[in-house]
Amino acid sequence: MICLGIEGTAHTIGIGLVEDINGRCHILSNVIKIYKPKHGGGIHPREAANHHATYVADLIKESIKKADIEYADIDLVAFSKGPGLGPCLRTAATAARALSLSLNKPIMGVNHCVAHLEIGRGTIEKCRDPVLLYVSGANTQVIAFAEGKYRVFGETLDIGIGNCLDKFGRYIGLDFPCGPKIEKLAEKGKQYLELPYSIKGMDIAFSGLLTAAEQYVKHGKKIEDICYSIQETTFAALTEVTERAMAHTEKDEVLLGGGVACNKRLREMVKTMAQERDAHFFVPSHDLCVDNGAMIAWLGLLMYKSGIRMNVENSHIDQRFRTDRVDVSWRD
Ligand code: ATP
Ligand code: FE2
Repeated sequence: MICLGIEGTAHTIGIGLVEDINGRCHILSNVIKIYKPKHGGGIHPREAANHHATYVADLIKESIKKADIEYADIDLVAFSKGPGLGPCLRTAATAARALSLSLNKPIMGVNHCVAHLEIGRGTIEKCRDPVLLYVSGANTQVIAFAEGKYRVFGETLDIGIGNCLDKFGRYIGLDFPCGPKIEKLAEKGKQYLELPYSIKGMDIAFSGLLTAAEQYVKHGKKIEDICYSIQETTFAALTEVTERAMAHTEKDEVLLGGGVACNKRLREMVKTMAQERDAHFFVPSHDLCVDNGAMIAWLGLLMYKSGIRMNVENSHIDQRFRTDRVDVSWRD
């Protein structure tokens, strides 16, 4: 069975084609195009949606070509139902509906956060039942399967970690996406500067730290040291919450997902924590960590195979689609 997935929750419009081969996810193609906010500003939902509308048709063609298949080979069309920005979600869903109707193939709306976890399970051999540390621009969640659902064990109380990095980056004049640039600067940092470490229960907050970091800039502290301190503090908090979720659920696998999972220091910290617990550490390849269509396609395929059905009439989007509202019928 072959599924075409359309991702469009925020900055990225992505098309992925995946095939199910003996229950494993085989990626035929996975192409993306990323909207970059103008003048170093934040994401403008309508502009991002226009960007997605401009490129979606060409990306679909490109994905078919790269996969070396025909339109007729597609068995299912999946799209990111939420959570995300309304205009972006609507654009991706509209493209999915048009394709589903023109090909006369079924449609499936999927939860974006769960897709980040399932692509790890589908493509990494030993990854069976992980705790996911999902760290992207807008999202920061620790997710694991428990009692029939994907549950959020901890999450940000304000902004996502990627957003925190991007906001700080913008403040010091870096271009979006700022995470990779902050990572480079942090490598040259030598002195740790005290920053608020706010974990409340199992949840994390970043805005206090962001303000404190901006104060350090005003007071002339070295940018490299500030970047280093931001990474050390936020990543330590993320690792701590992830470890607590692993202890609580008694799981011995940890999976990273989301754009911030590309960060080497974060990987190192989570990996060390996993090793100390005798647990397995997994991180998908870069193209599967960031927002992409293949993960949407794979989750759509899992849902379809488990008997879930949707039609164009009930293929609406859900901007606040919660991870724990997903009915997980494809897992025991
Ligand atoms: P979502 O809708 O899932 O919130 P998104 O639009 O933020 O997605 P992603 O591709 O998952 O998209 O993540 C982008 C974020 O990842 C940006 O905030 C970017 O700064 C951050 N990022 C990318 N690479 C790195 C890195 N090496 N270190 C830290 N952060 C990074
Ligand atoms: Fe994402």
